[in-house]
Amino acid sequence: MKKKQKKFIIKVDTSTALMLLVFTGLIFSCRKPVEEENTDYQFNKVYEPIIDSILKQLTLEEKIAMLHGNGKFTSAGVERLNIPELSYTDGPNGVRAELERHSWKELNLTTDSATFFPTGTALAATWNTKLAYKYGAGIGLETRAREKDVLLGPAVNIIRTPVCGRNFEYFTEDPWLNSQIAVGYVKGVQNQDVAACVKHYAANNQEYERSRISVEMSDRALHEIYLPVFKATSEEADAYSMMGAYNKFRGIYLCQNDFLNNKILKNEFGFKGIVISDWGATHNTVEAAMGGLDVEMGTRGTDYDNNYMGLPLRDSVLAGIVPMEVINDKVKRILRVIYNTKKMDPSRKKGEFTTQRISNIAYEIASEAIVLLKNENNLLPLNQNEVKSIAIIGQNAVQPQSFGGMTASVKAKYEVSPLEGIKKKVGDKIILKYAPGYEPNYEKEPEGSHVYPVNEPNQELIDEAVQLAKESEVVILLAGTNRDVETEGQDRRDIQLPFGQNELIKSVTEANKNTIVVVVAGAACDINLPAETAPAMLWSWYNGSEAGNALADVLFGDVNPSGKLPFTIPKKLEDVGAHALDAYPGKDLAVKYKEGILVGYRWFDTKQIEPRYPFGFGLSYTDFDYKQLSISKAEGKINIMVTLENSGKVKGKETVQCYIQDTESSVMRPAKELKAFTKTELKPGEVKTVSLSINKEDLAYFNETNEKWTFEPGEFKVMVGSSSRDIRLEEVINLK
Ligand code: BGC
Repeated sequence: MKKKQKKFIIKVDTSTALMLLVFTGLIFSCRKPVEEENTDYQFNKVYEPIIDSILKQLTLEEKIAMLHGNGKFTSAGVERLNIPELSYTDGPNGVRAELERHSWKELNLTTDSATFFPTGTALAATWNTKLAYKYGAGIGLETRAREKDVLLGPAVNIIRTPVCGRNFEYFTEDPWLNSQIAVGYVKGVQNQDVAACVKHYAANNQEYERSRISVEMSDRALHEIYLPVFKATSEEADAYSMMGAYNKFRGIYLCQNDFLNNKILKNEFGFKGIVISDWGATHNTVEAAMGGLDVEMGTRGTDYDNNYMGLPLRDSVLAGIVPMEVINDKVKRILRVIYNTKKMDPSRKKGEFTTQRISNIAYEIASEAIVLLKNENNLLPLNQNEVKSIAIIGQNAVQPQSFGGMTASVKAKYEVSPLEGIKKKVGDKIILKYAPGYEPNYEKEPEGSHVYPVNEPNQELIDEAVQLAKESEVVILLAGTNRDVETEGQDRRDIQLPFGQNELIKSVTEANKNTIVVVVAGAACDINLPAETAPAMLWSWYNGSEAGNALADVLFGDVNPSGKLPFTIPKKLEDVGAHALDAYPGKDLAVKYKEGILVGYRWFDTKQIEPRYPFGFGLSYTDFDYKQLSISKAEGKINIMVTLENSGKVKGKETVQCYIQDTESSVMRPAKELKAFTKTELKPGEVKTVSLSINKEDLAYFNETNEKWTFEPGEFKVMVGSSSRDIRLEEVINLK
């Protein structure tokens, strides 16, 4: 007999109904995945007449007040006209904890613990521009929810040397990959009605003496390697702001550098947003005002009026030294950011904070970032039903990686460590035991404030780890650096794995032949030893709140790794161009980029130096066969089609990379230059045709004789492959 169903009738009035509707809408929108919106990435022209009319109403004092900080992370609007102030936050891999308005002290709130996104190199290792967009959208949502207007990221400086302390924040050694990832990030942020701040403009590639050093380089290196990302984020994503770097370029501070800020960025690239100084990077009133700086940030005390761009600037205007048009241009730019982030518009997006869908973004990026470097005898993925015991060794199995490294530090709402992630995954199916194996120890510089890791092994901890390794079927050894080793404000002294980890790795890999080494680091390290002794190796980055979950899914095969290295891992530091030429860290407060355009793999490939692992490298649990290459030319474009087959047994994602060599050129060209890539997923047995396209003008070089990009007709070699050193198909084409 059918049971009569009871009916529940709840009576609601209209206002409750409306609230419910809004609430369910909110829940629904927070669950929806964040997809790229079809937006025209332009400053909206409708605001321009409004901005012009506001400008006419402003007094000189009101204008000047807008050009510098009025708090550590705020700059003034115009109260009289109800124009609100701008509020800034770090960036670039999570929204920073709340600080006191007038000091660097944290407020210790219980409401500001944010999502920790995988740091820069991890994002770049996904080689996935859609994920770059989602990253920006995720962090943009949290920035809005925290009522901030400007997110101080992405950090995009080129990785010139592995020892730069901030490499983990940055993306890559390659200008093309850099631009693609940065453009996605900026669009994602700005679609949440938040301004991105692309930093640090420009040529800020080391922390050593960063506030005094002058960078010298050729025009060619500047245009081909160091500027493209700033051009791309300005032209393709209409970045609302850029941050001037601490250092000098050709003897002139970057926040006061007329050549780079006015001539190149604002005039040549058509940048319409604001140049903000790095915190405390302004040194002179007139030079800053005339040198293209729009907003001075980061004074030491609270005497904001006496900032370089405060009353001294007003006086320079009154004295006729700085023209009023220069001030007006800056104010217009600031108003443009205020209007385009919809600060006064009730329809401005509200953002959301640490929601499930933001965690999902962090997870998705983390899982696509992990790079499989080695996998002898298919040791990976591990089978949960076969393995009985695992030793988890290495302090990085439990070390939080969200905190430290100075301004990129994130007070994370949660961070799943590798140990937690693996535990959660295997439950009590597998016996898991942990031994730290090494101990992070530091020493202070005898004179100075820097703290460096000590490279002493701890024999007791090694013995304990070896014992555990012997008793266990499999070892997962979490090695690498941490956020005290890689940090803003100082470079590493070398690329050794710190704290005596080599001794640990050597002993453990001898004790257990099934040792998987997982490197947790943001920048290249010397991994020669594990590359030789461990049968399997993964690179797992500072991989955000979901790091441990993503790693566990890769280790046990729920995720097939698809990350590719965004930088070269050298066999030794001296193999890197800047070091081989003794062009780091510079002498007498100047550093000459003697390697010119030969940065990263451009150096290794042109000079035929064997790296430990090349740029673009990353294995998979499946195999991809590159079958057929066909190239056609049409209207200034080169269209490349590659047939790709997943010839293995599991689905997987492959990044098809296209490198170009100009084989006939009147100037030196690198052996290889990345000009296109695309990431695609294939089921086992699936065959797909992948298309890539290159604009002919992207094959030009920067001609130093006439200071113009020059395309030379002739032969070009098109190389398509799975990494910069694993070219599967190539063809020589002739371009007119
Ligand atoms: C860093 C910037 C950061 C700023 C504000 C500086 O030390 O170089 O990247 O955004 O501080 O915290």
